[in-house]
Amino acid sequence: MNGFAPLAPIAVALDGPDLQTVTGWASAVDGIAGVVKVGLESYLRDGAAGVRQIRGAAPRAALFLDLKLHDIPATVAGACRSVAGLEPSILTVHASGGAAMVAAAAAALPSARIAAVTVLTSLSAVDIARIGLNGDPRECVLRLARLAVDAGATALVCSPEEVASVRAEVGPQVLLITPGVRPAGAAAHDQQRVATPEQALADGSDLLVIGRPITGAADPRAAAAEIAAGLA
Ligand code: C5P
Repeated sequence: MNGFAPLAPIAVALDGPDLQTVTGWASAVDGIAGVVKVGLESYLRDGAAGVRQIRGAAPRAALFLDLKLHDIPATVAGACRSVAGLEPSILTVHASGGAAMVAAAAAALPSARIAAVTVLTSLSAVDIARIGLNGDPRECVLRLARLAVDAGATALVCSPEEVASVRAEVGPQVLLITPGVRPAGAAAHDQQRVATPEQALADGSDLLVIGRPITGAADPRAAAAEIAAGLA
């Protein structure tokens, strides 16, 4: 599934130190990447007004609000209504908030895809056991993926390593979003498990989250264009 054509199925992670930098990146990738991703760092600093500026800088890109909501269903529903005016195409919530919470988000923001985060890739098997989740990390991911989709999530965030098994679990209709993507030869930074864009798509990803290989490049537009060209 590539609902972003003719633009590339890339969500550029706009994690930057100030709004001016972030809007500069957004404008650099406009017309190349199908999606711009605004996360907590920007949202909590620059607020809805900042998101509007980012949208203005990249008018052809869809908005992915990566706010990873996790609260009681009524509060998450209210939070979804609070960002509805920004017209996000994708909004993240934690699947571990439970089925009722995911369902509340989906009901409150029907115009967006609610994307569930299953198990944070920063958690090791030991961390997962200490939290009290049953099973190995892969079992937890698949269980939470199924729970979220059954509750109304129409997208999932998963690592390139998990994407093939998540795809087998949830079928073709769910949008699978993968961070941890690096062009061959690029620095991994703090990502532990990386895949190339081509491999992640071949394994079933629909949308590649790519940040620093683009935003850290001397010429972000050229870097985005080069990655996009490799996917065409
Ligand atoms: O710079 P980089 O390509 O590593 O950016 C990755 C982006 O994806 C960041 O915004 C990060 O928060 C997000 N992310 C991640 N790993 C996850 C989930 C989200 O790196 N498991």
